[in-house]
Amino acid sequence: MTVRVPAKVNVQLAVGAARPDGFHDLANVFLAVSLFDEVTVTPADELTVTCSGPDADQVPLDRTNLAARAAELLAARAGRSDAVHIHITKNIPVAGGMAGGSADGAGALLACDLLWGLHTPTAELLDICAELGSDVPFSLVGGAALGTGRGELLTPVEAGAFHWVFAVAEGGLSTPAVFREFDRLAEGRDVPEPQASPALLTALASGDPDALAGALANDLQPAALSLRPDLQRTLTTGLEAGALASLVSGSGPTTAFLVRDGEAASKVAAALEASGTCRATRTTTSPAPGATALP
Ligand code: C5P
Repeated sequence: MTVRVPAKVNVQLAVGAARPDGFHDLANVFLAVSLFDEVTVTPADELTVTCSGPDADQVPLDRTNLAARAAELLAARAGRSDAVHIHITKNIPVAGGMAGGSADGAGALLACDLLWGLHTPTAELLDICAELGSDVPFSLVGGAALGTGRGELLTPVEAGAFHWVFAVAEGGLSTPAVFREFDRLAEGRDVPEPQASPALLTALASGDPDALAGALANDLQPAALSLRPDLQRTLTTGLEAGALASLVSGSGPTTAFLVRDGEAASKVAAALEASGTCRATRTTTSPAPGATALP
């Protein structure tokens, strides 16, 4: 059983003050993009994980992998064995701010549900996703959605079609470290309640890239740039090559470039690759569907 599952970019990531539980309330507008991992599950003697793809060596293959944890949680809920082999074909940058680990968790969850014939109701699958991590519910549903709470409470939103280029950075960034840096930078000032921007939601629905370019916002960007000042050069390079807007994807260090069309995407990707300010590029469209079983 193979499930394909998309990466995401946050077109708005409004971050509130740290909560007593350490998480931050968010107004998080997720958009799924056409960059996919594939998760294949096959019956086995015990729970094992393998991974292939250019960055496979950075993926943990033990039970800390969200795909393994998804299989464990679903099996425990169903009162059955979790003995399954999980293979991840990895295309989404690892520790890149594009919810690659979350995608694998959501993919493994759906794949195991189908392999085991459990027919778990979607609401219960979403509860398990939320237990796995704040971004995992969105990886399951895809499309475009507003995430509130710590990002796990989803409301679908409308999205027209857009073109994106992503610049994959050297190395990764730890999401908790970026949130800690956000807290450090926010010390001594009032952090407002996070709220979805009506202008952003209208622009997203319209499919007008100029309107969306003017409304993109990521409150984690100053924190990510504080930890990785080199990313500023990547952001500038993409803008100079004709991107309508650039931003850090989620907690980074992947950077995202909104472009007018496929032609502009090729031009921006070529300029980024030639500049030496990133490790690789990916050209995508949005919105993309959530976790989907392949025939
Ligand atoms: O939910 P997830 O396990 O993906 O979150 C990883 C880390 O990111 C959390 O432990 C927390 O440090 C930070 N985080 C946060 N507020 C959120 C989501 C994540 O502070 N809303």
